[in-house]
Amino acid sequence: MQSLNAIADVRRQVADWHRAGERVALVPTMGNLHEGHLVLVDRAREQADRVVVSVFVNPTQFVQGEDFDSYPRTPEEDAELLRRRRADVVFLPEEAEIYPRGREGISFVEVPGISEQLCGASRPGHFRGVATVVMKLFHIVQPDVAIFGEKDFQQLAVLRRMAEDLSMAVELVGVSTVRETDGLAMSSRNRYLSPNERQKAPALYRMLMGLAAHIESGERDIMKLEGEGMARLAEAGFEPEYVSVRRADDLQLPRGDEKDLVLLAAARLGRARLIDNLIVTV
Ligand code: PAJ
Repeated sequence: MQSLNAIADVRRQVADWHRAGERVALVPTMGNLHEGHLVLVDRAREQADRVVVSVFVNPTQFVQGEDFDSYPRTPEEDAELLRRRRADVVFLPEEAEIYPRGREGISFVEVPGISEQLCGASRPGHFRGVATVVMKLFHIVQPDVAIFGEKDFQQLAVLRRMAEDLSMAVELVGVSTVRETDGLAMSSRNRYLSPNERQKAPALYRMLMGLAAHIESGERDIMKLEGEGMARLAEAGFEPEYVSVRRADDLQLPRGDEKDLVLLAAARLGRARLIDNLIVTV
């Protein structure tokens, strides 16, 4: 596995592969890799001849006061895990390589309508930062396919919309959430949980499963479902941010006739802000 820091080196390598007729997959990450990331690498291997994984803690997607400085950075461990999962290239750029003119006053990608709600409501500008860095990574790597987790369901929806709106050639593939044995979705931010909070954390997923069971048994009162979810989270010791029932395809409010719904939730537990979601087919 090659470890590359310069855009020019990544471009040269991918151009060689494309010249040889090889299909290239990109897995964008912010590092501190866990099994949830590594299954994306496995999926990339199935989808393409070559796999590039980017590891970059993107400053423009962190809102003022968030954990950009303290976000866990473990580049050596990440490289070792990626080597074992047979990635071909790990792209580890410095901030100045990605943002040579700084973080302010530069061109950005906005995906309106879908970016301002749910997580975007409490993290203004977050999805603009995500869309911008992913667009840049697509232009740097020029992958044929890019792999993302459904764990960040709204992020994937924003990126699919961006690719469609801007006629991008890259194919986007979503992968199911990888969970700990007790149901907690794997996340780099789980390491912010104290042992006591870690014990409480699976209540987030259990709440989603409970709401899904109600929907499956015929409940359609969305306000009631959302209120019940918020109450369950508060009882379990979370500070709930939102619990929401949406259409799975575009994250808009359900009209009542859709087959695929998604339950989404965000809540604070101590220092950690946890998110999770569950697709319900009715
Ligand atoms: P990061 O949080 O490092 O996640 C990288 C990718 O791994 C995302 O597509 C995310 O959805 C996926 N992922 C994380 N935990 C997962 C889990 N438990 N199961 C399945 N997939 C999981 O998401 C980002 O980084 C950034 O916003 C990024 C897209 C890299 C742009 O900076």
